[in-house]
Amino acid sequence: MIEETARKHAALYGFEEIETPMFESTAIFKRGLGETSDIVSKEMYVFNDKGGDELVLRPEGTAGVARAFISEGLAQLTPLKLFYRGPMFRYERPQKGRYRQFYQIGVELLGVEKPQADLECLSLGYQILKNLPFADGMASSITLHLNTIGDLESRAAFREKLVAYLTTRKSELSADSLARLERNPLRILDSKDEGDKRVIAEAPTLTAYLNDTSKKFFDDVVGGLEILGLPYKIDPLLVRGLDYYCHTVFEFTTTALGAQNAICAGGRYDNLISDLGGPKTPGVGWASGVDRLALMMAEISDQTPTVAVVPMGDEAEGPAMKLCQELRSAGLRVDMAYGGNMGKRMKRADKVGASHAIILGSNELSRGVAQVKTLATGTQAELPLGSIASTLAKELGR
Ligand code: HAM
Repeated sequence: MIEETARKHAALYGFEEIETPMFESTAIFKRGLGETSDIVSKEMYVFNDKGGDELVLRPEGTAGVARAFISEGLAQLTPLKLFYRGPMFRYERPQKGRYRQFYQIGVELLGVEKPQADLECLSLGYQILKNLPFADGMASSITLHLNTIGDLESRAAFREKLVAYLTTRKSELSADSLARLERNPLRILDSKDEGDKRVIAEAPTLTAYLNDTSKKFFDDVVGGLEILGLPYKIDPLLVRGLDYYCHTVFEFTTTALGAQNAICAGGRYDNLISDLGGPKTPGVGWASGVDRLALMMAEISDQTPTVAVVPMGDEAEGPAMKLCQELRSAGLRVDMAYGGNMGKRMKRADKVGASHAIILGSNELSRGVAQVKTLATGTQAELPLGSIASTLAKELGR
C-alpha cells in the first residue's frame, strides 16, 4: 500500500519505474558511496560468485541506478525521472525500525543541474507522505531538515578549517570521531556523542565557506520551498553519511520512532555518475524506509467478510472444496477447516473472524444441503448447496 501510494504520486510527477538487480559489483558502492562511509566500511553483505567476482547485496538504490544509467546508455534520455522500490541489505545492529533486510521506495532525477530538480523531489516526498494513512499524531511528527554541503571547492575549503580546529580539540573527541578526523571529518558534525557535540558547537560552520555558486544554489532551493509552501528546518550540522552528495542534503525525520528517526533522506549528487565512469550527469533524489513508514501507519483492517467451511467426514471434503471455490468467486474470503473435531473447527472459525460457518456432514450431503450458522447469534439455517454462495454474498454485501 505504501509502494502503491508512492508509485501513483511518482507517476503524477512524471517518474517512471526502474528495477535494478538486487546484487551488484562491490566496486560500484566502494567508488560511489566512499570507502570510509559506514555502509561500505561496515555494513555490506559481500560475497564472491563462482567466477570469482566480488558482489554485494545492494545496501541502497542510488549507485545501482547510476550503474544502470551508464551501462544502459540512458544519457540520451535525460532528463530522466526514475522511481524504484525493493529490498536493501545492511549489516547493522537490528532494532525497532532498523533491519538487515529492509525496503525502500526511492526516486532519482538525472540530468538536471538546476535547483528545480531538488524542489521537484522534495515536493514529491511531501506529497507521498501527505497521502499515507498515518496513525493519529504521526503526520505532525514529521519535519524536513535541510542543509547544503556546497560544491567540491566549498567543501575542500571548509574541510581544511574544520580539521585544523578539530585537531586542537582532539583529546575531547570520541574514538569514532578521532578515526574520522583524517578520513571523513565532515561526518563528525553529525556525531551523537555528547563530548563531540560540545566540540562541534564551537566549530567553524560550512555556511561561512560556501562560494557564491553554492550559496545561490541553496538560496534557490530554500526560496522554492517557500513558494511551494513546504515547511523545512535548516540544520547546519546535517551532512549525511554517503560521499556522493554535494549541495542539497535533506532528511524527513519523525519524533515517533525513537533513534531510527529518518524516514526519507537524500540529496544532490552531481559527481556520482562521472565518478563511476559515466558522462558528467547531475542527479538528485531520495529514498524512504518503507518499514519505518509502516510503523507509523494506522492498522487498516481488511473489511472483506470471512466465511468458514467445516466439512465433517471424508466424503464431505470434495463438495466442501467446491463450495469454497463458489464462495471465493462470489467475493468472500473463505477459511476451510482441515482437521480436528467439530469443537476445534468451530473454534478456528471464531479465530479467523468468520461471520458464518457452513457445516457439511454426510446427512446434509445426501440431501444436497448444508447448515449455515451465523456465529454472532448462534442461529442456524439449512440451505441448498447451490444457493449458499449467492445468498451469503447478498447478505454480506458483496
Ligand atoms: P539512506 O539515508 O542511507 O539513503 O537511507 C534512506 C532511508 O532508508 C532512511 O532514511 C531510512 O528511512 C531507510 N533505512 C536505511 N537503513 C535502514 C535500515 N537498516 N532499516 C530500515 N530502514 C532503513 C540512501 O539510501 C540514499 N540512496 C538516498 C538517496 C537517493 N540519495 C539520493 N538519492
